[in-house]
Amino acid sequence: MTDSASTAQTMTPVRIAGTGSYLPERIMTNKDLEKSVDTSDEWITTRTGIRARRIAAEDEHTSHLAAKAGAKALEQAGIDAADIELIIVATITPDTLTPATACYVQQHLGCLKAVAFDISAACSGFLYALEMARTSVGGGAFKNALIIGAEKLSAFVDWTDRNTCVLFGDGAGAAVIVPSTNGDGRVLSSQLGTDGAQAGLLNIPGGGSACPMTTENAPESLAYLAMQGREVFKHAVNAMKKASIDGITAAGLTPKDIKLLIPHQANLRIIDAIVERLEINREDVFINLDKYGNTSAAAVAIALDEAHREGRIQRGDKILLVAFGAGLTWASAVIEW
Ligand code: UT7
Repeated sequence: MTDSASTAQTMTPVRIAGTGSYLPERIMTNKDLEKSVDTSDEWITTRTGIRARRIAAEDEHTSHLAAKAGAKALEQAGIDAADIELIIVATITPDTLTPATACYVQQHLGCLKAVAFDISAACSGFLYALEMARTSVGGGAFKNALIIGAEKLSAFVDWTDRNTCVLFGDGAGAAVIVPSTNGDGRVLSSQLGTDGAQAGLLNIPGGGSACPMTTENAPESLAYLAMQGREVFKHAVNAMKKASIDGITAAGLTPKDIKLLIPHQANLRIIDAIVERLEINREDVFINLDKYGNTSAAAVAIALDEAHREGRIQRGDKILLVAFGAGLTWASAVIEW
Protein backbone atom coordinates (compact mmCIF):
# COMPACT_ATOMS: atom_id res chain seq x y z
CA MET A 1 0.00 0.00 0.00
CA THR A 2 1.30 3.47 -0.79
CA ASP A 3 0.17 6.89 0.25
CA SER A 4 1.51 10.08 -1.19
CA ALA A 5 0.80 13.41 0.36
CA SER A 6 1.80 16.84 -0.71
CA THR A 7 0.97 20.44 -0.10
CA ALA A 8 1.18 23.24 -2.60
CA GLN A 9 4.06 25.01 -0.85
CA THR A 10 7.05 24.32 -3.09
CA MET A 11 5.60 25.48 -6.41
CA THR A 12 3.24 28.05 -7.84
CA PRO A 13 -0.24 27.37 -6.46
CA VAL A 14 -2.96 26.46 -8.96
CA ARG A 15 -6.68 27.17 -9.04
CA ILE A 16 -9.74 25.96 -10.92
CA ALA A 17 -10.65 28.58 -13.53
CA GLY A 18 -13.77 26.85 -14.86
CA THR A 19 -15.85 23.69 -14.55
CA GLY A 20 -18.22 21.84 -16.86
CA SER A 21 -20.22 18.64 -17.04
CA TYR A 22 -22.31 16.66 -19.46
CA LEU A 23 -24.86 13.94 -18.88
CA PRO A 24 -26.37 11.90 -21.72
CA GLU A 25 -30.06 12.54 -22.40
CA ARG A 26 -31.47 9.08 -21.76
CA ILE A 27 -32.65 8.52 -18.19
CA MET A 28 -32.97 4.96 -16.87
CA THR A 29 -34.94 4.78 -13.62
CA ASN A 30 -35.00 2.03 -11.00
CA LYS A 31 -38.51 1.21 -12.21
CA ASP A 32 -37.09 0.64 -15.71
CA LEU A 33 -34.57 -1.83 -14.25
CA GLU A 34 -37.34 -3.73 -12.43
CA LYS A 35 -38.50 -4.84 -15.88
CA SER A 36 -35.18 -6.44 -16.87
CA VAL A 37 -33.58 -7.81 -13.65
CA ASP A 38 -34.80 -9.24 -10.34
CA THR A 39 -34.57 -6.01 -8.35
CA SER A 40 -36.82 -3.31 -6.93
CA ASP A 41 -36.84 0.46 -6.65
CA GLU A 42 -37.13 -0.05 -2.88
CA TRP A 43 -33.95 -2.23 -2.68
CA ILE A 44 -31.86 0.09 -4.83
CA THR A 45 -33.03 3.26 -3.07
CA THR A 46 -32.59 2.00 0.49
CA ARG A 47 -29.26 0.20 -0.14
CA THR A 48 -27.63 2.86 -2.32
CA GLY A 49 -29.70 6.08 -2.57
CA ILE A 50 -29.70 5.78 -6.38
CA ARG A 51 -33.00 6.48 -8.17
CA ALA A 52 -31.90 6.93 -11.79
CA ARG A 53 -28.83 6.96 -14.04
CA ARG A 54 -28.01 8.34 -17.50
CA ILE A 55 -27.20 6.06 -20.42
CA ALA A 56 -25.18 7.25 -23.43
CA ALA A 57 -26.40 6.55 -26.96
CA GLU A 58 -24.68 3.76 -28.90
CA ASP A 59 -22.70 6.21 -31.05
CA GLU A 60 -21.91 8.49 -28.09
CA HIS A 61 -18.49 7.42 -26.83
CA THR A 62 -16.59 8.40 -23.71
CA SER A 63 -14.59 10.96 -25.70
CA HIS A 64 -17.82 12.67 -26.84
CA LEU A 65 -19.07 12.95 -23.25
CA ALA A 66 -15.64 14.21 -22.19
CA ALA A 67 -15.43 16.82 -24.95
CA LYS A 68 -18.88 18.22 -24.15
CA ALA A 69 -17.96 18.62 -20.47
CA GLY A 70 -14.55 20.04 -21.44
CA ALA A 71 -16.09 22.63 -23.79
CA LYS A 72 -18.27 23.96 -20.97
CA ALA A 73 -15.29 24.20 -18.61
CA LEU A 74 -13.28 26.09 -21.25
CA GLU A 75 -16.17 28.46 -21.87
CA GLN A 76 -16.53 29.22 -18.18
CA ALA A 77 -12.77 29.70 -17.79
CA GLY A 78 -12.72 32.03 -20.81
CA ILE A 79 -9.84 30.11 -22.38
CA ASP A 80 -9.69 29.20 -26.08
CA ALA A 81 -9.37 25.50 -26.90
CA ALA A 82 -6.34 26.36 -29.01
CA ASP A 83 -4.54 27.73 -25.93
CA ILE A 84 -4.84 24.56 -23.80
CA GLU A 85 -1.44 22.91 -23.29
CA LEU A 86 -2.34 19.70 -21.44
CA ILE A 87 -5.38 17.39 -21.48
CA ILE A 88 -5.70 14.58 -18.96
CA VAL A 89 -8.72 12.28 -19.22
CA ALA A 90 -9.41 10.00 -16.26
CA THR A 91 -11.44 7.00 -17.37
CA ILE A 92 -11.81 3.23 -17.03
CA THR A 93 -14.06 3.08 -20.09
CA PRO A 94 -11.87 4.48 -22.88
CA ASP A 95 -13.12 4.64 -26.48
CA THR A 96 -10.28 2.27 -27.41
CA LEU A 97 -7.44 0.59 -25.49
CA THR A 98 -5.13 2.73 -27.58
CA PRO A 99 -4.87 5.55 -28.42
CA ALA A 100 -5.89 7.34 -25.27
CA THR A 101 -9.37 8.88 -25.08
CA ALA A 102 -7.63 12.22 -24.42
CA CYS A 103 -6.30 12.10 -28.01
CA TYR A 104 -9.85 11.94 -29.38
CA VAL A 105 -10.87 14.74 -27.03
CA GLN A 106 -7.99 16.88 -28.32
CA GLN A 107 -9.44 16.53 -31.82
CA HIS A 108 -13.11 16.98 -30.82
CA LEU A 109 -12.27 20.24 -29.01
CA GLY A 110 -9.58 21.54 -31.36
CA CYS A 111 -6.97 21.78 -28.57
CA LEU A 112 -4.38 21.14 -31.24
CA LYS A 113 -1.28 22.11 -29.31
CA ALA A 114 -2.21 20.17 -26.16
CA VAL A 115 -0.28 17.14 -24.94
CA ALA A 116 -3.00 14.57 -24.24
CA PHE A 117 -3.05 11.33 -22.28
CA ASP A 118 -5.33 9.20 -20.06
CA ILE A 119 -4.98 7.99 -16.53
CA SER A 120 -6.68 4.91 -15.14
CA ALA A 121 -7.40 5.31 -11.44
CA ALA A 122 -11.11 4.39 -11.48
CA CYS A 123 -13.34 6.52 -9.26
CA SER A 124 -10.33 8.41 -7.86
CA GLY A 125 -9.24 9.31 -11.40
CA PHE A 126 -10.40 12.93 -11.47
CA LEU A 127 -8.52 13.71 -8.24
CA TYR A 128 -5.43 11.88 -9.54
CA ALA A 129 -5.70 14.07 -12.67
CA LEU A 130 -6.04 17.16 -10.51
CA GLU A 131 -2.79 16.29 -8.72
CA MET A 132 -0.99 15.60 -12.03
CA ALA A 133 -2.21 18.97 -13.32
CA ARG A 134 -1.32 20.72 -10.07
CA THR A 135 2.29 19.59 -10.23
CA SER A 136 2.57 20.03 -14.03
CA VAL A 137 1.09 23.53 -14.14
CA GLY A 138 2.40 24.58 -10.71
CA GLY A 139 5.87 23.36 -11.66
CA GLY A 140 5.79 25.38 -14.88
CA ALA A 141 5.91 22.56 -17.46
CA PHE A 142 2.50 23.63 -18.88
CA LYS A 143 0.74 26.96 -18.52
CA ASN A 144 -2.70 25.37 -18.11
CA ALA A 145 -4.50 22.01 -18.15
CA LEU A 146 -7.92 20.63 -18.95
CA ILE A 147 -8.72 17.69 -16.69
CA ILE A 148 -11.74 15.50 -17.36
CA GLY A 149 -13.36 12.52 -15.66
CA ALA A 150 -15.50 10.68 -18.21
CA GLU A 151 -17.16 7.28 -18.30
CA LYS A 152 -19.45 5.21 -20.47
CA LEU A 153 -19.91 2.48 -17.87
CA SER A 154 -23.09 1.25 -19.55
CA ALA A 155 -20.84 -0.39 -22.17
CA PHE A 156 -19.00 -2.43 -19.48
CA VAL A 157 -21.89 -3.47 -17.27
CA ASP A 158 -23.55 -6.88 -17.43
CA TRP A 159 -27.19 -5.85 -17.76
CA THR A 160 -28.29 -9.26 -16.44
CA ASP A 161 -26.30 -8.93 -13.17
CA ARG A 162 -28.37 -7.13 -10.53
CA ASN A 163 -25.34 -6.88 -8.22
CA THR A 164 -23.71 -4.33 -10.52
CA CYS A 165 -26.06 -3.05 -13.25
CA VAL A 166 -28.20 -1.01 -10.86
CA LEU A 167 -25.19 0.94 -9.58
CA PHE A 168 -23.51 2.61 -12.53
CA GLY A 169 -24.20 5.37 -15.05
CA ASP A 170 -22.59 7.46 -17.79
CA GLY A 171 -21.38 11.08 -17.73
CA ALA A 172 -18.44 13.46 -17.70
CA GLY A 173 -17.12 16.39 -15.69
CA ALA A 174 -14.21 18.73 -16.34
CA ALA A 175 -12.10 21.52 -14.86
CA VAL A 176 -9.54 23.98 -16.22
CA ILE A 177 -6.42 24.36 -14.07
CA VAL A 178 -4.32 27.55 -14.18
CA PRO A 179 -1.66 29.13 -11.97
CA SER A 180 -3.02 31.16 -9.08
CA THR A 181 -0.94 34.26 -9.39
CA ASN A 182 -2.82 36.79 -7.28
CA GLY A 183 -4.05 34.64 -4.41
CA ASP A 184 -7.52 34.15 -5.93
CA GLY A 185 -8.15 30.59 -4.78
CA ARG A 186 -5.86 27.58 -4.86
CA VAL A 187 -5.50 23.87 -4.23
CA LEU A 188 -4.45 23.69 -0.57
CA SER A 189 -3.71 19.98 -0.27
CA SER A 190 -3.83 16.81 -2.30
CA GLN A 191 -3.62 13.21 -1.07
CA LEU A 192 -3.39 10.08 -3.21
CA GLY A 193 -3.29 6.44 -2.13
CA THR A 194 -3.17 2.98 -3.73
CA ASP A 195 -3.46 -0.60 -2.48
CA GLY A 196 -2.80 -2.98 -5.37
CA ALA A 197 -3.12 -6.00 -3.05
CA GLN A 198 -6.89 -5.52 -3.28
CA ALA A 199 -6.98 -5.22 -7.08
CA GLY A 200 -9.24 -8.27 -7.40
CA LEU A 201 -12.12 -6.72 -5.43
CA LEU A 202 -13.26 -4.54 -8.32
CA ASN A 203 -12.14 -4.97 -11.90
CA ILE A 204 -12.93 -5.67 -15.54
CA PRO A 205 -11.04 -8.96 -15.96
CA GLY A 206 -11.06 -9.27 -19.76
CA GLY A 207 -9.88 -7.11 -22.62
CA GLY A 208 -6.33 -6.51 -21.40
CA SER A 209 -3.14 -8.47 -22.09
CA ALA A 210 -3.89 -10.87 -19.20
CA CYS A 211 -7.05 -11.98 -20.94
CA PRO A 212 -7.42 -10.71 -24.51
CA MET A 213 -11.03 -10.83 -25.60
CA THR A 214 -10.08 -12.42 -28.91
CA THR A 215 -9.00 -15.73 -27.39
CA GLU A 216 -11.47 -18.57 -26.96
CA ASN A 217 -10.87 -18.72 -23.18
CA ALA A 218 -12.29 -15.23 -22.77
CA PRO A 219 -16.05 -15.49 -22.36
CA GLU A 220 -18.14 -12.37 -22.73
CA SER A 221 -18.75 -12.14 -18.97
CA LEU A 222 -15.08 -11.22 -18.43
CA ALA A 223 -15.67 -8.01 -20.37
CA TYR A 224 -17.91 -6.66 -17.61
CA LEU A 225 -17.32 -4.92 -14.33
CA ALA A 226 -17.08 -7.36 -11.42
CA MET A 227 -17.21 -6.27 -7.80
CA GLN A 228 -17.20 -7.80 -4.32
CA GLY A 229 -19.56 -5.10 -3.10
CA ARG A 230 -19.55 -5.72 0.64
CA GLU A 231 -15.72 -5.82 0.86
CA VAL A 232 -15.36 -2.76 -1.33
CA PHE A 233 -17.88 -0.95 0.87
CA LYS A 234 -15.73 -1.44 4.01
CA HIS A 235 -12.55 -0.30 2.28
CA ALA A 236 -14.38 2.70 0.80
CA VAL A 237 -15.57 3.95 4.19
CA ASN A 238 -12.15 3.56 5.86
CA ALA A 239 -10.08 4.97 2.99
CA MET A 240 -12.34 7.98 2.38
CA LYS A 241 -12.47 8.84 6.09
CA LYS A 242 -8.66 8.73 6.31
CA ALA A 243 -8.11 10.64 3.06
CA SER A 244 -10.54 13.31 4.26
CA ILE A 245 -8.88 13.79 7.64
CA ASP A 246 -5.37 13.68 6.11
CA GLY A 247 -6.35 16.22 3.45
CA ILE A 248 -7.91 18.64 5.91
CA THR A 249 -4.91 18.36 8.25
CA ALA A 250 -2.40 18.83 5.40
CA ALA A 251 -4.27 22.01 4.45
CA GLY A 252 -3.82 23.29 8.01
CA LEU A 253 -7.58 23.21 8.61
CA THR A 254 -10.15 21.42 10.77
CA PRO A 255 -13.43 19.86 9.54
CA LYS A 256 -15.29 22.95 10.80
CA ASP A 257 -13.50 25.04 8.14
CA ILE A 258 -14.97 22.96 5.29
CA LYS A 259 -17.87 24.77 3.60
CA LEU A 260 -18.80 21.95 1.26
CA LEU A 261 -17.91 18.25 1.06
CA ILE A 262 -18.05 16.76 -2.43
CA PRO A 263 -17.62 12.99 -2.03
CA HIS A 264 -17.51 10.22 -4.63
CA GLN A 265 -21.08 9.31 -5.47
CA ALA A 266 -21.21 5.50 -5.06
CA ASN A 267 -23.52 4.87 -2.12
CA LEU A 268 -25.38 7.17 0.25
CA ARG A 269 -24.53 4.89 3.17
CA ILE A 270 -20.81 5.35 2.49
CA ILE A 271 -21.28 9.13 2.38
CA ASP A 272 -23.26 9.05 5.65
CA ALA A 273 -20.43 7.19 7.38
CA ILE A 274 -17.89 9.81 6.28
CA VAL A 275 -20.13 12.69 7.27
CA GLU A 276 -20.60 11.16 10.72
CA ARG A 277 -16.83 10.79 11.21
CA LEU A 278 -16.06 14.33 10.04
CA GLU A 279 -18.95 15.82 11.98
CA ILE A 280 -19.89 17.89 8.95
CA ASN A 281 -23.52 19.04 8.64
CA ARG A 282 -25.51 16.95 6.18
CA GLU A 283 -26.57 20.14 4.36
CA ASP A 284 -22.90 20.91 3.69
CA VAL A 285 -22.54 17.75 1.58
CA PHE A 286 -23.21 17.74 -2.16
CA ILE A 287 -25.13 14.69 -3.35
CA ASN A 288 -26.38 13.90 -6.85
CA LEU A 289 -26.07 10.09 -6.93
CA ASP A 290 -29.85 9.84 -6.79
CA LYS A 291 -29.95 11.26 -10.36
CA TYR A 292 -26.81 9.74 -11.91
CA GLY A 293 -25.71 6.66 -9.91
CA ASN A 294 -21.99 5.90 -9.75
CA THR A 295 -20.20 7.46 -12.73
CA SER A 296 -16.72 6.46 -11.48
CA ALA A 297 -14.06 9.01 -12.53
CA ALA A 298 -16.76 11.44 -13.63
CA ALA A 299 -18.65 11.51 -10.33
CA VAL A 300 -16.65 14.05 -8.30
CA ALA A 301 -16.13 16.20 -11.41
CA ILE A 302 -19.85 16.33 -12.24
CA ALA A 303 -20.72 17.08 -8.61
CA LEU A 304 -18.10 19.85 -8.47
CA ASP A 305 -19.53 21.49 -11.58
CA GLU A 306 -23.14 21.23 -10.41
CA ALA A 307 -22.26 22.59 -6.96
CA HIS A 308 -20.38 25.48 -8.57
CA ARG A 309 -23.13 26.34 -11.05
CA GLU A 310 -25.83 26.08 -8.36
CA GLY A 311 -23.98 28.71 -6.30
CA ARG A 312 -23.05 26.28 -3.52
CA ILE A 313 -19.39 27.36 -3.77
CA GLN A 314 -18.40 30.99 -3.27
CA ARG A 315 -15.06 32.77 -3.52
CA GLY A 316 -12.96 31.99 -0.44
CA ASP A 317 -14.90 28.83 0.50
CA LYS A 318 -12.83 25.81 1.44
CA ILE A 319 -14.16 22.63 -0.12
CA LEU A 320 -13.16 19.00 0.33
CA LEU A 321 -13.26 16.53 -2.56
CA VAL A 322 -12.79 12.85 -1.69
CA ALA A 323 -12.95 9.68 -3.79
CA PHE A 324 -12.36 5.94 -3.70
CA GLY A 325 -12.35 3.23 -6.36
CA ALA A 326 -10.87 0.19 -8.06
CA GLY A 327 -7.17 -0.39 -7.59
CA LEU A 328 -7.85 0.09 -4.83
CA THR A 329 -7.29 3.84 -5.10
CA TRP A 330 -8.33 6.79 -2.99
CA ALA A 331 -7.74 10.52 -3.06
CA SER A 332 -8.72 13.82 -1.52
CA ALA A 333 -8.18 17.47 -2.35
CA VAL A 334 -8.87 20.58 -0.29
CA ILE A 335 -9.46 23.67 -2.41
CA GLU A 336 -9.85 27.30 -1.44
CA TRP A 337 -12.17 28.67 -4.12
O1 UT7 B 1 -17.21 3.26 -6.96
C1 UT7 B 1 -16.27 2.32 -6.57
C2 UT7 B 1 -16.49 1.89 -5.22
N1 UT7 B 1 -17.72 1.15 -5.13
C3 UT7 B 1 -18.38 1.17 -4.02
O2 UT7 B 1 -18.02 1.90 -3.14
C4 UT7 B 1 -19.55 0.24 -3.84
C5 UT7 B 1 -19.46 -0.40 -2.49
N2 UT7 B 1 -20.49 -1.39 -2.21
C6 UT7 B 1 -21.80 -1.05 -2.08
O3 UT7 B 1 -22.20 0.07 -2.29
C7 UT7 B 1 -22.74 -2.13 -1.60
O4 UT7 B 1 -22.01 -3.24 -1.11
C8 UT7 B 1 -23.72 -2.63 -2.69
C9 UT7 B 1 -24.74 -1.53 -3.01
C10 UT7 B 1 -22.96 -3.02 -3.94
C11 UT7 B 1 -24.50 -3.84 -2.19
O5 UT7 B 1 -25.18 -3.51 -0.98
P1 UT7 B 1 -25.06 -4.48 0.29
O6 UT7 B 1 -25.91 -3.91 1.33
O7 UT7 B 1 -23.59 -4.66 0.57
O8 UT7 B 1 -25.73 -5.80 -0.26
P2 UT7 B 1 -25.10 -7.26 -0.42
O9 UT7 B 1 -24.15 -7.29 -1.56
O10 UT7 B 1 -24.62 -7.71 0.92
O11 UT7 B 1 -26.38 -8.08 -0.81
C12 UT7 B 1 -27.49 -8.24 0.11
C13 UT7 B 1 -28.58 -9.01 -0.59
C14 UT7 B 1 -28.08 -10.27 -1.28
O12 UT7 B 1 -29.08 -11.27 -1.14
P3 UT7 B 1 -28.95 -12.42 -0.02
O13 UT7 B 1 -27.67 -13.13 -0.38
O14 UT7 B 1 -28.87 -11.70 1.28
O15 UT7 B 1 -30.18 -13.21 -0.23
C15 UT7 B 1 -28.01 -9.88 -2.74
O16 UT7 B 1 -28.15 -10.96 -3.60
O17 UT7 B 1 -29.18 -8.20 -1.62
C16 UT7 B 1 -29.17 -8.94 -2.86
N3 UT7 B 1 -29.04 -7.99 -3.95
C17 UT7 B 1 -30.09 -7.40 -4.56
N4 UT7 B 1 -31.41 -7.49 -4.34
C18 UT7 B 1 -32.22 -6.74 -5.13
C19 UT7 B 1 -27.89 -7.54 -4.53
N5 UT7 B 1 -28.20 -6.67 -5.51
C20 UT7 B 1 -29.55 -6.56 -5.53
C21 UT7 B 1 -30.44 -5.81 -6.32
N6 UT7 B 1 -31.77 -5.93 -6.08
N7 UT7 B 1 -30.03 -4.97 -7.29
